[in-house]
Amino acid sequence: MTAGSLAALVVKYASLSTAVAVGLYAGFIGLLTMQSLQTHVVYLHKVQMTWFKDLNTPEFFGFMHNQVTAFGVRSLSGEDVYAWHILPIELYRKNEASLLEEPSGFCPDITARKAFALLHDDPEAILIIHMHGAAGTVGSGYRVPNYRALSAGNPNKIHVITFDYRGFGRSKGTPTGHGVLEDAISVVQWAIGVTQMPPSRILIFGQSLGTAVNLAVAEHFSLQSPPIVFSGHVLVAPFLDAPTLMATYRIAGTIPLLGPIARFPVLFNYLKQYLVHKWSSTDRIARYVHANEANSLPYRITIIYAEDDFDVPSTHSQDLFWHAVNATKATGVSRGELEQVKLEGGADLGPAGTVMKWHTETGILRVEILKTGLHDVIMGNPVITLAVMRILAKV
Ligand SMILES: *[C@@H]1O[C@H](CO)[C@@H](O)[C@H](O)[C@H]1NC(C)=O
Repeated sequence: MTAGSLAALVVKYASLSTAVAVGLYAGFIGLLTMQSLQTHVVYLHKVQMTWFKDLNTPEFFGFMHNQVTAFGVRSLSGEDVYAWHILPIELYRKNEASLLEEPSGFCPDITARKAFALLHDDPEAILIIHMHGAAGTVGSGYRVPNYRALSAGNPNKIHVITFDYRGFGRSKGTPTGHGVLEDAISVVQWAIGVTQMPPSRILIFGQSLGTAVNLAVAEHFSLQSPPIVFSGHVLVAPFLDAPTLMATYRIAGTIPLLGPIARFPVLFNYLKQYLVHKWSSTDRIARYVHANEANSLPYRITIIYAEDDFDVPSTHSQDLFWHAVNATKATGVSRGELEQVKLEGGADLGPAGTVMKWHTETGILRVEILKTGLHDVIMGNPVITLAVMRILAKV
């Protein structure tokens, strides 16, 4: 075989494999227009990660005996949402003896439990409602260190309630934008109605997909009459909206999911019509800020993001922050104006990253961009504890 014919052969096979790759990709995009597959791509709810551990035995996930109460919250849909109530560690220590006497496993009536009384009866208790990201359950990945970081600022007072959206873990059903939001609203309503916590002592945390749910909940309650505003919202690794996330998403940080299509706006806009799960956080954060400014109600939003997060590009956090800032003024705030304020008032903390604040008469918006922390490791770090403490200090 001559060098020439070898080269021809290589070119032939190379182009063949390119053709196969393009064909597979086109097929994948075609499949993505099917709603059921999109649901799996967006929520990854079947990727449980805690398959062989029983969520009703929280000791398997690193908790003390009866530190966690597993219970159900009836959703507006009529199904139960599976939830955990996690006691902060100092409160657990003080009440250890009586907690250990109680039954363990799934609790059919949480209101009869000591742990519930510790939350319900303490006029200074703080409740963080936790909204997790795609895939997994309340017990998977960095979520457990995350719960510890959330209550570390006051291990006597800060309780956490976390839950699985429908279709995740032990919660029945299939996730949809509407259904996931319905479940989150049901848990928040349960907290207000059953634990009797005033919204000023409730803080809502979300990571990744959970940030979109968090903002949807924030908007929902701020538009009630009378409006309900919580003490603050912490958003870790947020994204602008699901289609934009898909356009910039790289599987394992390398293979672009919709990147090739996003380069052709006509094609991308066409595909967008088929994306049923929109999760538009830009619109929601703007409406939430508008509502609170109009009602002169205090509000706090903290956005936290790590630069080495390869799931969501940093532009999402920066742009979401700008959308919130823009909504604080009737005439809007241009990107240029915001950049100017950042130059004057933003803090550069070297290897710790950068912080920027935006104050209004009633609101405080913060964005913290860390150098490291990935998409999820960051959830267990002191920056999370501090974000909660800062919000509580202002209440
Ligand atoms: C910024 O705010 C102004 C005034 O509310 C609004 O007209 C404009 O659409 C906003 N810009 C964006 C990108 O949302």
